[in-house]
Amino acid sequence: MSPLADFQNEIYLKGLGDVLPELPTDLTRLEALAQERLSARAFGYVAGSAGGESTARANRAAFERRRIVPRMLRDVGHRDLSVEVLGTPMPAPVLLAPIGVQSIFHPEGELAVARAAASCGLPMVLSTAASFTIEEVAGASGDGPRWYQLYWPKDRDLAISFLERAKAAGYTALVVTLDTFTLAWRPRDLDQAYLPFLRGIGTANYFTDPVFQKAVGGPVTDANRDTAILHWVANFGNPTLTWDDLVFLREHWDGPIALKGIQHPDDARRAVHAGMDGVIVSNHGGRQVDGAIASLDALPRVVEAVGEQAAVLFDSGVRTGSDVAKALALGARAVLVARPYAYGLALGGEAGVRHVLRCLMAELELTMVLSGHKSPDELTPEILQEI
Ligand code: FNR
Repeated sequence: MSPLADFQNEIYLKGLGDVLPELPTDLTRLEALAQERLSARAFGYVAGSAGGESTARANRAAFERRRIVPRMLRDVGHRDLSVEVLGTPMPAPVLLAPIGVQSIFHPEGELAVARAAASCGLPMVLSTAASFTIEEVAGASGDGPRWYQLYWPKDRDLAISFLERAKAAGYTALVVTLDTFTLAWRPRDLDQAYLPFLRGIGTANYFTDPVFQKAVGGPVTDANRDTAILHWVANFGNPTLTWDDLVFLREHWDGPIALKGIQHPDDARRAVHAGMDGVIVSNHGGRQVDGAIASLDALPRVVEAVGEQAAVLFDSGVRTGSDVAKALALGARAVLVARPYAYGLALGGEAGVRHVLRCLMAELELTMVLSGHKSPDELTPEILQEI
């Protein structure tokens, strides 16, 4: 048996010594447990979505609507879930989505996540809005694969500085998130009047940046903290960007680039036309445009449009290994898991994140082989039935 599904045996064997898993192995249960552990503000920030949260629900409903049709007697003795995506080999087609401000979930935040991801060999995508710096997280990640996610700031020199720091710290691919040049209407945060950035949480990369510091009159201390926060507000996103601006990214990043937040096949085509290497089909977990289509429903048309020319990745709504299999079947080359690992972090720090990742990979492998498939490339739309 491959080491991924072997996690199952490890759990049963530990049970012989009366040792039980510390967290549930049904990852859909983590949200409710995290709610008990986290402050109301932190829980609202992670679990909340935009508006009436109809898109967040649609993301889940799109998975529910598609069911796997298992096939039998197909010799699945030797299985291999490993893939290479944008130059990064990984033991399974799973990455950790960029999630900002992780110190509100656990004091070790992104450092714990980086260690857990590295121990599983899975790439972590580090957010610009992290609570630890690009360099600190690289240190925690060690030899682990790591990508960097850019929130493209107004100040071009600051953007260049972020990219240079990420490159120097060993992040190999760039993810550029397009759907969040400003934060959406998020009632759970609004009702508590809670935005971590205004409290200086999730600003580590800005406050330590030489370009940012120059703009606010030197290193950020209590004396210029308010100025720094206002400068952050003014610079966080740029609503005037267009497709032509992507040339700038290509000029300043020589590795692979993937655009995150793509939902329309025409936008995917434009990304390829602009020389991008990948697109991430994502609606930010329903946190930006409430009423938008489910991300899984956007996936097939994007794959059809650019699947041959670019790496199409998927995120939004992934909770279980079975969900990962469904997104792969619809043509994703890899899948980003997000909220479940944040809940794992809240509940168990590094070990909690590792638990989530190992459960997800084991469940993915078991779902695949019990449905008759040995490797991700055997998963095609025909294995699904829509109900
Ligand atoms: C996010 N997401 C996100 N995306 C991004 O590109 N940069 C970021 O800093 C963040 N920060 C962030 C914080 C929190 C608390 C959440 C829940 C999400 C979006 C994330 O990468 C991913 O697209 C969604 O979370 C996917 O939805 P599900 O699968 O978590 O429901």
